[in-house]
Amino acid sequence: MSLVKTMLAHPATRGRDLDDPAVTGARRGILESKPFLMEVYRSWYAQVARALPAGDGPVVEIGSGAGFAAREIPGLISSEVFFLPHVDLVADALALPFARSSVRALVLVDVFHHLPDPARFLEAAAACVRPGGKILMVEPWVTGFSSLVYKNLHHEPFDPTAATWGFGKKGPLSGANQALAWIVFSRDLALFRERFPQWSLKAVQPRTPFAYLLSGGLSLRFCPPGWSWPLVRDLERAAARWMGRLAMFAFIELERTRDAG
Ligand SMILES: C[S@@+](CC[C@H](N)C(=O)[O-])C[C@H]1O[C@@H](n2cnc3c(N)ncnc32)[C@H](O)[C@@H]1O
Repeated sequence: MSLVKTMLAHPATRGRDLDDPAVTGARRGILESKPFLMEVYRSWYAQVARALPAGDGPVVEIGSGAGFAAREIPGLISSEVFFLPHVDLVADALALPFARSSVRALVLVDVFHHLPDPARFLEAAAACVRPGGKILMVEPWVTGFSSLVYKNLHHEPFDPTAATWGFGKKGPLSGANQALAWIVFSRDLALFRERFPQWSLKAVQPRTPFAYLLSGGLSLRFCPPGWSWPLVRDLERAAARWMGRLAMFAFIELERTRDAG
């Protein structure tokens, strides 16, 4: 299996240290070279954009990495935990550098499951997001199908049985539990509600069963041609009724409550 994985690994990043910011720079090049994968991202950004609350205050993306949300969502400020030339700010999700109740929305695409202390992030976010503001995320999700894929084919750790939300501190990309959003917002939902009355869970929409897998993501060399995107998108729409079993991701919407915290 490891020989196959090595052969499928994208040559631009094969064998390199994931936590090296230069690898994120190379991943941006990989993303730009995969029009199909860019469409997957666009479909995520479109769902985020539709859920943005109206009104004032900045919309800040956390952990922008190789992504291009700032091109798709007007006014979005990109940020990353380490310096990257194409990103607006350096910001750590666990120590957000924004004034109290100043932020309209925080956007995280594929980032929450890399946070070694998600409770600390939810607290830090509750301090800087204004009442009525939101956290909008797209995250790996646990279903029968995704469990098979994440356990057997993906390089990041996946542990839906983890006793705690956090995991030992590692690098920003090597540290992960891909089951984390599902653990916090589904398995441990009662605990989340008890610990975080500042946040109201407005939506969890499982999505993207096949397209990201087919695209090879940012680390594998294969990807379908861009013209095939509408076919796969329509196939995913046709599979809507089985999304609870097939989804590999979920869109998650949290709203800052007005009266708590
Ligand atoms: C899988 S990548 C996703 C990058 C990008 N959002 C995308 O969709 O391609 C996870 C990102 O989370 C970032 N990250 C990890 N820990 C972080 C932290 N404490 N604060 C902010 N970003 C963090 C990583 O540096 C990395 O860029």
